[in-house]
Amino acid sequence: MKGVVLAGGAGTRLKPLTDYTNKHLLPVYDKAMIYYPLWTLEKIGVREALIVTEERWIDDFKQTLASFRPKLNLSITLAIQTGPGGIVDALIQSEKFAAGAPLAVALGDNLFENPPQKAANDFRSNPNGANVFLTEVHNPEDFGVAVMKDGAIQSIIEKPETPPSNLAVTGLYFFDTTVFERIKELKPSVRGELEITDLNNLYLQDGRLTAHQIEGWWCDCGTFDSLVRASALLAGHQLETVK
Ligand code: TTP
Repeated sequence: MKGVVLAGGAGTRLKPLTDYTNKHLLPVYDKAMIYYPLWTLEKIGVREALIVTEERWIDDFKQTLASFRPKLNLSITLAIQTGPGGIVDALIQSEKFAAGAPLAVALGDNLFENPPQKAANDFRSNPNGANVFLTEVHNPEDFGVAVMKDGAIQSIIEKPETPPSNLAVTGLYFFDTTVFERIKELKPSVRGELEITDLNNLYLQDGRLTAHQIEGWWCDCGTFDSLVRASALLAGHQLETVK
């Protein structure tokens, strides 16, 4: 299984910082944010990773990566997304890199205390369908929310006004080799983007989506408040979990 970190986007909620740097190069505790999704991929056994970002940040990424490349057992390459066309648009840029391999796809601003190693091992031995990773949150209306029945996922609803559960879909996905064909079936949403939730729901319609509940904390870093929370979590857990 190869790994992809999506690190493009507009980073509107972190303006003005994101006017002059990429969100994923901002510090979270003692490292640049991009370190953590790479660490997640490494922990689940990925050895080849691609970072997708905009061309204007490529040199900055190279410099940042140079500082921690030796710490990760991961070969890392970069690919370009021409503009903030959405998460699925960023994923499309990894098709050549994937070269027919199943993928672990991480959103560049998502941190996991305990990367899901068992699910990754299971998927590696049988890379069929897609996997999503759920966690309980206090503000499900801000996320894709999973509807569960008897332990099986029934649907994912994007930012529902009345959430059917408090289980948010986090920013880590495993996709089998059909992912790029399925993306071709997607239609743009009302905001004009191909949506990751629609992609996951395509797998679900075929009975090929598995949902796991993660262990430990999860945090995204898309806002100033969550950026502070992520740093605080890392400060408390750094020695045990994130080296
Ligand atoms: P979002 O947080 O949904 O979008 P954003 O990063 O542009 O931030 P904002 O909403 O504040 O404008 O994206 C989640 C992750 O997905 C982000 O960490 C990077 C990735 N992404 C891309 O790689 N390309 C894109 O075009 C978008 C929108 C996101």
